[in-house]
Amino acid sequence: MSEWKGKTALVTGASYGIGEAFARRLAADGANVIVTARSSDRLEVLANELRSRHDVDARVIEADLANPSAPEKVFSLTEGAGVQIDLLVNNAGFGAVGDFADIPLDHQIEMIQVNVTALVALSHLFLQPMIRRREGAIIQVASTASFQGVPYSSIYSATKAFILNFAEGLWAECREHGVRVLALCPGPTATHFQAVAGTSHLRDPKKMQTPEEVVDVGLKALAQNRSVAISGFGNKLMIGAERMAPRNLVTRMAAKLYRPFSTRGNQAR
Ligand SMILES: NC(=O)c1ccc[n+]([C@@H]2O[C@H](COP(=O)([O-])OP(=O)(O)OC[C@H]3O[C@@H](n4cnc5c(N)ncnc54)[C@H](OP(=O)(O)O)[C@@H]3O)[C@@H](O)[C@H]2O)c1
Repeated sequence: MSEWKGKTALVTGASYGIGEAFARRLAADGANVIVTARSSDRLEVLANELRSRHDVDARVIEADLANPSAPEKVFSLTEGAGVQIDLLVNNAGFGAVGDFADIPLDHQIEMIQVNVTALVALSHLFLQPMIRRREGAIIQVASTASFQGVPYSSIYSATKAFILNFAEGLWAECREHGVRVLALCPGPTATHFQAVAGTSHLRDPKKMQTPEEVVDVGLKALAQNRSVAISGFGNKLMIGAERMAPRNLVTRMAAKLYRPFSTRGNQAR
């Protein structure tokens, strides 16, 4: 029997991709789920399906995490209203590719707000009751991009590096409080992410992992109270090899790989 049966999970960014797969899997395992994102129409369809299919409670909270007040709103509608959250999946996020100097600053600041600031705020809010209960878990969705600077996706990879470091620190802090924290690091995964980041034309979905595979890796690693889980054997190998190589070599190789994402093409070189 799943450890999540009868518990309640809050999943951010559950309207698509990895977050939706988390909500589906947790509900199938018997967990009540609270799903949040901006696309409330999609979330309502998902919640209805999960309720009728799995006989669990499924609730929707519409929230735009680019809005600094959103984490407080999500908290006050859940824990603040007496609904105990046993598992928080901080999954909402997006990327953008191009030269840093060309991507509009507002868009990159919004990325930091959603990927980092909202994740930190939600972690702070929900961790406190978990520590008081000496029980609970947080999955922070990072990325294989957390492990190195990624040219032409510099802000995105920096947000993901933040999440990895933050999650590892929290994992160690929270051990003595009975709370588990995991940094889940997917590589390229077939979701809506590529379309949002503007990379669909350059990546073949058939060569990517599925969101269900990523979720499985995450939940297994959490059950073992690991601090970091890299999803996919090839991704693990790549990160392992990178760790042994000089950092600037890794960054130069990444620059070659990611150059097609440059908004300046070859004209500036
Ligand atoms: N797919 C990959 O290749 C990949 C690889 C490594 C890591 N990741 C990470 O995995 C996580 C999930 O991404 P995904 O691949 O599942 O992408 P996705 O299919 O595009 O889903 C992203 C989710 O985040 C939500 N979101 C985006 N902006 C938001 C905002 N301002 N407020 C609230 N919710 C927001 C979206 O919901 P709405 O648009 O409805 O708000 C959506 O539910 C992200 O953190 C991403 O960085 C993805």
